[in-house]
Amino acid sequence: MAITLVMDGKELTVEDGKTLLDVAREMGKDVPTICYHDATTANGLCRMCVVEVEGQRALQPACVVQAGAGMKVHTRSEKVIRARKTILEMLDSTMDLSEADEIQTMMKDYNTDANRFPDAERRESEIKDDNPMYIRDYSKCLLCWRCVQVCAEDAQYTYAINFEGRGFETQIGTFFDKTIPETTCVLCGQCVAVCPTGALKPRREYLLQQGMSPQEISVLNTGRKKRKAR
Ligand code: SF4
Ligand code: FES
Repeated sequence: MAITLVMDGKELTVEDGKTLLDVAREMGKDVPTICYHDATTANGLCRMCVVEVEGQRALQPACVVQAGAGMKVHTRSEKVIRARKTILEMLDSTMDLSEADEIQTMMKDYNTDANRFPDAERRESEIKDDNPMYIRDYSKCLLCWRCVQVCAEDAQYTYAINFEGRGFETQIGTFFDKTIPETTCVLCGQCVAVCPTGALKPRREYLLQQGMSPQEISVLNTGRKKRKAR
């Protein structure tokens, strides 16, 4: 069945069952997303994709809300821009976004103010370097859930990581804070591939950033393999 709606003043007819994000993208609209990734199920966590739907008081997350017949949608109204800008400013004040390239671009597009929330508490965490494949730096984690989703039903069905803690203490982790080799992780690397911030990073890239040479890394890896073989 097809439905007709209006987006940014343009009437269009689309197949029923599409999200507002699907429709916006088909129209070539730039609706930014953070928690949503093409490889994962949309969960509406970050709210960066919000759009304004006439007649609805709250802004709607386009990645999860289905397009409905007769809807009048605004993808870049003043209210929408203000909300997206605030989300970016809150993220920027509470975590390290220095390696989140796409979000950095969004912050430029939305002209964010780096000092909007000067008293916000920043997420701090020590780097976890406990396996040969990737490191975890949760001071860069914005809890988008993508890594948990690909580790579970969206891809690998491994369930090595999940949310832990509550409120500001919430973070991604392993059960009982076990090291990665002690979990069901098979080092598939899919979590690293979908992480938007560098919180999960290939270990080799991390060691190069730390100033190690490729030769030193290869010696380190050989030593690790030998220890494992014993
Ligand atoms: S580690 Fe990366 S992918 Fe996982 S929740 Fe944090 S930011 Fe998202
Ligand atoms: S991208 Fe839609 S809520 Fe995060």
